[in-house]
Parts: sequence; structure tokens; C-alpha cells
Amino acid sequence: MSAKCVQEVTQQSWINEVFPEWGTWLNEEIDRTEIEHGTFGMWWLTNMGVMIKSDKQTQIAIDLWCGPGKRTHDAPDMGPRHQWSRLTGGRKIQPNLRAVPMVINPFAIHRLDALLCTHFHHDHIDLNVAAAILQGVEQDIPFIGPKFVVDQWIAWGVPAERCVTVRPGDTVKVHDIEIDVCESFDRTVLITDQKGEPVPEGKEIPDMDERAVNFVVKTDAGSVYHGGDSHFATMMAEHGKRFDIDVAIVAYAENPIAVTDKMTSSDVLRAAESLGCRVVVPVHWDVWSNMLADPQEVIDLWRMRRDRMGYTFYPFAWLPGGSFIYPRDAEKIAYFHDRGFSDHHMHPTDVPYPSFL
Ligand SMILES: [Fe+2]
Ligand SMILES: [Fe+2]
Repeated sequence: MSAKCVQEVTQQSWINEVFPEWGTWLNEEIDRTEIEHGTFGMWWLTNMGVMIKSDKQTQIAIDLWCGPGKRTHDAPDMGPRHQWSRLTGGRKIQPNLRAVPMVINPFAIHRLDALLCTHFHHDHIDLNVAAAILQGVEQDIPFIGPKFVVDQWIAWGVPAERCVTVRPGDTVKVHDIEIDVCESFDRTVLITDQKGEPVPEGKEIPDMDERAVNFVVKTDAGSVYHGGDSHFATMMAEHGKRFDIDVAIVAYAENPIAVTDKMTSSDVLRAAESLGCRVVVPVHWDVWSNMLADPQEVIDLWRMRRDRMGYTFYPFAWLPGGSFIYPRDAEKIAYFHDRGFSDHHMHPTDVPYPSFL
């Protein structure tokens, strides 16, 4: 219950009233959307988080993460083994504040058929989400990810029998959805230590396949390639040959000086043509205040190049919390939220005189 006077207001009552900012609005929208035959639906849950719903109403969530970024200046410097220390030679913490609202309430997710996670970075795997799904989803749905992800879930108390460890080459069925697991190209994850996992010695390069994977989610109406935090890689052209990809979701953001961690606009277009997809959706640009990017840049570059390069795909500039229906929205290019007021003039207006506005 919200407070009625200042005496009733506390910091906790304020948090309860404001957070999560979208309440259960998006949960309700996803639950109430009946996906039509021959299509599939997707919702962007911020960062690399997406919900995919098939025309049999099967729902899977990938990289659902509902956490914060930095919240205080008073944090210790990074240790020398931190991936950003290793990559940049610096020690100051990055000012990565969360720049988007919480669009979904994981504790209000009651219908879900599987949770998938590409890798163990803490903007992709989430203790609170794991708990919310264990508590809120009625069925004992599987938790699917590479070894390091599964090890993390189990360390957090997710029952081992609920976890499915996958590596490239594996295929997993979730009702009518089939998921092909393939190689990740997230080189940052190779220099990230994970608590409880063996630390590679010297210059030893660890096994990517235990740390990160990409997913090809195949529905009866089309497929989605989820690239996790993959950087651009020439092997994406091999994935384009191996898989029939309709929609590719890739990690795009502006890299600070001395950092190469996300795809640039040019990389996004190279990834799209390599993967042979029909639609490319750059995400991850929304969440970190120090790496914000604008997907309009991808569209502008696509417009400049499309004739000379012979592009056969479309970019899609999404917004956090937004939906996408395939194939209906394949050539839509830009998303905007429902602008509302569709019932205008259903009742008499009530202004001082008819031409008031
Ligand atoms: Fe990430
Ligand atoms: Fe990552």
C-alpha cells in the first residue's frame, strides 16, 4: 500500500512504490500476447536479455538479468586479475551506471519453459532471476548454459538436476523450440576469472566452450541467433553457412578508449552479412552509462552501404521493453512504443469550445 502522508513515507516505501519502474506491465503484455500461427514474438528485457515466444506459446528467456551497475564512488580499485585491469592496464573502477529502467519483474514470471544463459558475466547471469524462477514458475523448467554458467547456478543453490550443461554442437529441445548451441566469440570472457573455477596459468588460453556459447533458437516460424557478448568474428560466416538464421541479436555498444568489448556499427553490419540473417538487432547499447550507443548509427551506415554491398538484411533499432513479431516486423527498421489514445473521440470531448486546441 502506498503512503498517504509524509509521516508514512520511508526509503523502503519509496522503493516499493517506484521499483521496478515498469511494475508488471511487460509481464502482463508477454503473458497476454497470443502468438499467431506462423510467427514468433520477442521482447527486449534490456541488455542482452530477450524473451522468445513461439506460436505454440512456448516461452524461453535468454540472458535475463535484472541487476544494477555501479551505485557508489566508494568502491575499491580493481584487482590485477580483473578483466578490465588485464585488458587496459588500469585499476580505476569503470563508471558503468545502469542507464535503463527495470522493464520486467522476474518474480512475476509464472509462465516460462526454459532459462538460457550464454556466459557467466554478471550482466547475463543473475542470482535474483534464478531465485525468482525457482520460486515463481510452476513447472520445474530447465536452466541451460555452458559449464561455468551451470557451475555458478549450482553454487547459488539451483538444483543440479534442473541444470543442463551445453557446449557447441549440442541441440536441446524445449517443446516445439529446438536450440542449436554454437561457438561464442566473446574474447573478454577468456580473460575473466570466475570464483570457484580454475585460474589459467601464465599465458594459457582457456577453453571458450566451457565459458560461453551462442544459441540458435529455431521455432516453426523462423530462427533467432543470440550472440551473447560475442565480438565480431570471421567464423560468423561459417555459422551463416551452418545455420538458417532469420533474426540475429548481437552485442553493440561504444567502446571506451583502450577497451574492445562490444561490436561497433560497422561490426554489426559485418556480423549480419556473415550470418546471412534477414534482420539484425543490435542490443546491449542501452544499459551502461559509459558505453551508450545509438542504433540509428547502424541504420545510417546500412543505408549508406546497402546498395554498394548488396545487403539483403534489414537492421532493427529496438527499445528496451519493446516487442518484435517475426516475420511481420522484418522490414520495420525502427521500434517505437505504443503511443496510446487509440480510443480517441469514442466519447464526447469536454473542452471550453470545439476548436479549443
Ligand atoms: Fe554483457
Ligand atoms: Fe560478457
